[in-house]
Amino acid sequence: TQSVGEVARVKNLNRIQFGRNEVEAWYFSPYPVEYAHLPVLYLCEFCLSYYPSQFMLGRHLRSCLLKHPPGNEVYRNRDPGSDEEISFFEIDGKRQITWCRNLSLLSKCFLDHKTLYYDVQPFLYYVMTSNDSAGCHLVGYFSKEKESAEGYNLACIMTLPQHQRKGYGKLLIEFSYELSKREMKIGSPEKPLSDLGLLSYKAYWAEIIVELLGDCPDDISIEEIANRTSITQNDIMWTCQQMGLFKYYKGQHVLCVTDQIMEQHRRAKAKQRKRIRPERIVWKPPV
Ligand code: ACO
Ligand code: ZN
Repeated sequence: TQSVGEVARVKNLNRIQFGRNEVEAWYFSPYPVEYAHLPVLYLCEFCLSYYPSQFMLGRHLRSCLLKHPPGNEVYRNRDPGSDEEISFFEIDGKRQITWCRNLSLLSKCFLDHKTLYYDVQPFLYYVMTSNDSAGCHLVGYFSKEKESAEGYNLACIMTLPQHQRKGYGKLLIEFSYELSKREMKIGSPEKPLSDLGLLSYKAYWAEIIVELLGDCPDDISIEEIANRTSITQNDIMWTCQQMGLFKYYKGQHVLCVTDQIMEQHRRAKAKQRKRIRPERIVWKPPV
């Protein structure tokens, strides 16, 4: 959903201290006015509450007991390559109104085209953390409508700036499609996408499609790809067009992966990006 009012508003925050990191806010976020325009806004990285000074945050930290997002852990996996342990927590906007509003306020700092959802109740939040002995540290999240008339499987996605370009975005996207597979649904992210959102989806879709085409040399229809990946036929067609995979052959449009694309794919795969292990997801579609 687009809000003309908010797009026009000027950035009101400067820097945000979050855990061990301090990051620059990118866009306007409707934190209460008394917190805006401070040199630094101090956040508790677990309950996401905000304070105007290091002193006040410190006082809060002595009493804050939260060490992970306040929901059910639905996934945990240790990446064999990096030894990093990643978890996903599912948080119901109806049960954790304050926490989800705080998450929305934080993520709005990096999203310019979404309205801030004070209305968090219709959403579930899938929050990804990187874990260590101090707790489960928020890296990124996506929200998802409990019911989407438009067939969206993701409403908003964000990786904290200090963690961007490390493959977490793809991991979040992959998780959203794994949930759709379990729901036996095909889904797409809510439009419009931001530039970074589109780049990330395009990279994910391309990877999954080429991977599938590489695995099954026989003809495979767009419909079949959609059924296997939970990516919509529209998104598949768009991605294939972008990659120039359609060839006109004997009076028909067929999908054709060139050796060059396959080679690129193999090289990318050799780098071993972080992957979701679907068998580790402990989740059933809500009834
Ligand atoms: N420049 C160029 N390509 C990029 C960039 C960038 N800054 N960021 C991501 N990409 C592309 C690349 O192809 C990248 O793969 P590569 O690094 O192997 O080349 C791919 O997207 C995925 O990158 P990840 O590291 O997996 O993604 P990241 O953790 O950085 O998160 C995200 C992507 C969530 C979109 C992040 O940029 C973000 O939070 N942006 C601000 C909020 C936002 O715009 N969210 C999307 C709104 S749309 C919606 O919510 C439906
Ligand atoms: Zn706290």
